[in-house]
Amino acid sequence: MTGRIIGTGASCPELVWDNNKLAEMVETSDEWIRERTGIARRHIEKDRAASAMAIEAAKKAMDSCKELDAEDIGAIIVCSIAQEEVLPSVSCQIQAAIGAKNAFCFDLKAACSGFVFAYNTCIAYMNMGLIKNALIVGVEKLSSITDWTDRSSCILFGDGAGAAVITACEEDSAMMMKCDGSRGDVLTCPAGSTLIMDGQEVFKFAVRSVPEAINEVLDQKKLAKEDVDYYILHQANRRIVESVAKRLGEPIEKFPMNLEEYGNTSSASIPILLDELYRCGKLPKGSRLIMAGFGAGLSWGASYVTV
Ligand code: COA
Repeated sequence: MTGRIIGTGASCPELVWDNNKLAEMVETSDEWIRERTGIARRHIEKDRAASAMAIEAAKKAMDSCKELDAEDIGAIIVCSIAQEEVLPSVSCQIQAAIGAKNAFCFDLKAACSGFVFAYNTCIAYMNMGLIKNALIVGVEKLSSITDWTDRSSCILFGDGAGAAVITACEEDSAMMMKCDGSRGDVLTCPAGSTLIMDGQEVFKFAVRSVPEAINEVLDQKKLAKEDVDYYILHQANRRIVESVAKRLGEPIEKFPMNLEEYGNTSSASIPILLDELYRCGKLPKGSRLIMAGFGAGLSWGASYVTV
């Protein structure tokens, strides 16, 4: 049993900070940021709570889904590292907002691997026969935990939410998840503080671990690279995505990116990208995708999903 995407949604703040705006805040330039990261802009949420973004993305995903009603959803999983409320969980708030009264709901924290970990969790429940349909939402207000005086990290992050409705389909799943807690100091955010990152170490970790994760999923699924339509990677940095494509020997056109517009939105980046592709018709029925996430923990993972 694997997952099929049958609806997507996103909520991105209206306020946009381009690189020139950041150059007024720290010593940097549009040229430097674009060259090193591929990022040109990021969306910043000043007013709404993260839960409001998550609810909007979830509603849009349900609206786009013609096959199911909210009562058919068996599980709602929200992934986030940057949302304000301790209780109730954002997933329970979504349940109430959309009327998914038959769902069980919880939030999980796996940083930029969050969406892949949540998806894999849903697939495990589907294979146990516990659920048939799930709603997965990634939401981040990273601007609230970004050090806006640190030019080596503040240029990267943005806010947003993305959601996907997943239904079980009769096809073998393929997935992997790994963590290395002994390297947690590479990317941290102490209580009440802001993100602290060793950018070069994160970079090295990502370009090594992501191709390994993708190859493991391809092997499990016995899927040839030619049969993959798109690789949907966490949107951290253009150079990371390009390096992964090169190491896999796959054309860069199979690695859609939107980080130029949104920066790194952690666990929201994969579903925001899925939503863009889904809505503009780039994911026709039968499309075969490999998603891959990586980030703090350290954590990384990949999964097969169809449309
Ligand atoms: N503007 C201008 N100069 C900057 C700068 C900025 N925003 N940030 C750093 N610099 C300077 C540094 O001070 C350094 O100057 P020096 O040579 O005089 O000491 C120089 O640029 C090179 O710094 P370095 O840290 O080596 O740059 P880099 O090429 O590694 O790029 C990152 C920095 C953060 C863009 C890069 O390491 C990266 O993308 N890492 C991955 C981060 C990531 O994706 N994190 C999230 C994972 S989920």
